[in-house]
Amino acid sequence: MTYRIGYLVGSLSGDSINRVLAKALVHLAPPSLQLEEIPIRDLPLYNRDDELSPVDAVPTFKKAIEASDGLLFVSPEYNRSIPAPLKNAIDWGSRPWGQNSFARKPTGIIGASPGAIGTAVMQASMRSVLSFLDAPQLNAPEAYVTFHADAYADDGSVTDPHTETFLRHYMEEYAAFVERVLSATLPGHE
Ligand code: FNR
Repeated sequence: MTYRIGYLVGSLSGDSINRVLAKALVHLAPPSLQLEEIPIRDLPLYNRDDELSPVDAVPTFKKAIEASDGLLFVSPEYNRSIPAPLKNAIDWGSRPWGQNSFARKPTGIIGASPGAIGTAVMQASMRSVLSFLDAPQLNAPEAYVTFHADAYADDGSVTDPHTETFLRHYMEEYAAFVERVLSATLPGHE
């Protein structure tokens, strides 16, 4: 069985280290996962007044979330929390009330920082948000990545063996988690 996984990169930067990490995760994912980015760049700032007649980027985003079997968040930590563009995207996807696109989607959270704690506090914030949105999360392994540029090649391959083993294992565990969640929730799924 192949699962469609939408991944969201929490940084809008052109030279984002989290985009480098996302590319590596796509490269290392097991064949059962088909990863495709769900862009957040074109979403306007969330405004409740626009919920019922949003610009096209909003329904496009919500449909992409809903069409995914699972979601992977690859994000920096900003000021010990979730970067505004990612939180903004989540707020759009969670509304209007009763139309939460994230409900029951198996999710993974991973992120890179130059610092030692590797986005741990952002990830704790994300867990709280995703719990409220009824999105099951991979609890273990956790993946707090301290970014070293020389561990990654331009083609998405990971040149540092320890990093490669760690990230490959994370993606294998995420794939197994998606399988577990979906086989428990989809009638007739094997
Ligand atoms: C940061 N950075 C940062 N790093 C961290 O480990 N914890 C933090 O709380 C913060 N806070 C923070 C706030 C803001 C506004 C910026 C711009 C940066 C540093 C951050 O990890 C670094 O800039 C990364 O390169 C950001 O990831 P991308 O954009 O390269 O993927």
